[in-house]
Amino acid sequence: MCRFPDRLFGLFLLMLLPALSCAETFAQIGRKATIAEVAAWDIDVRPDFLGLPVGSGSVAQGQKLWEAKCASCHGAFGESPEVFPPLVGGITPADIARGRAAGLNAATENARTTIMKLATVSTLWDYIRRAMPFDAPKSLSTNDVYAATAYLLHLGDIVSAEFILSNENIAATQQRMPNRNGMTGAHGMHDVAGKPDVISSACMKDCKVNEQTLLVLPATVNGRNGNLAEQNRTYGSVRGIDTSRR
Ligand code: HEC
Repeated sequence: MCRFPDRLFGLFLLMLLPALSCAETFAQIGRKATIAEVAAWDIDVRPDFLGLPVGSGSVAQGQKLWEAKCASCHGAFGESPEVFPPLVGGITPADIARGRAAGLNAATENARTTIMKLATVSTLWDYIRRAMPFDAPKSLSTNDVYAATAYLLHLGDIVSAEFILSNENIAATQQRMPNRNGMTGAHGMHDVAGKPDVISSACMKDCKVNEQTLLVLPATVNGRNGNLAEQNRTYGSVRGIDTSRR
């Protein structure tokens, strides 16, 4: 059992003398993670590309891989809304030039695709490596991840069909990401000293429900947001029921 005097003195000891902590008492339980175990978990790739492993993959290889392991869910061209909003679509050469996807602000553009939203190419690489394919995460080799990323970048008109993406040229592709200037730091979560950007007061009893919230409660759900069947599906086949009427 791990017991400390529950007085201030105990706290004082705990702070000053880590050697007296529970670790000693629990010596028989667990063990330190090995370097290899830590390395297996430590796979994040940062926007400055720290953590990116050496490797490469071409658009052509990516297309093959895509057809075998990704297209069933995301569509042959990353356009399918079947399991997730489309990965690709909705950007223009002007977006690539200025680094801001105009469609994100356009009322006419209902689908926010991955390639429109994404500010950092490292996130795409990192996400594919850790999470895709959805049914077998972390099964891709490093070069497969480069290839899949290259194919998606090609579908987004960021690189040519002949492009071979590698650890050496990935930073250059960052300079063509359509929403590279779309990341904002003007909120509390960007800075450890930051404050949240919501204004609220704590309430535990007889709390007032905001009128906006009442408006979206179940009885009035249908039709409140227009016809979902006509929204959010600008790319690929249109699915969904007509929710504009009861
Ligand atoms: C079995 C279906 C399935 C397969 C196969 C699959 N995906 Fe996905 N993919 C998903 C789902 C579901 C999500 C959303 C996951 C979530 O948000 O938790 C997703 C999300 C993504 C995203 C992130 C989109 C975003 O904006 O956050 C990328 C990129 C992606 N997939 C790439 C790939 C690649 C590359 C492959 C092939 C190697 C692949 N996927 C195979 C189902 C699949």
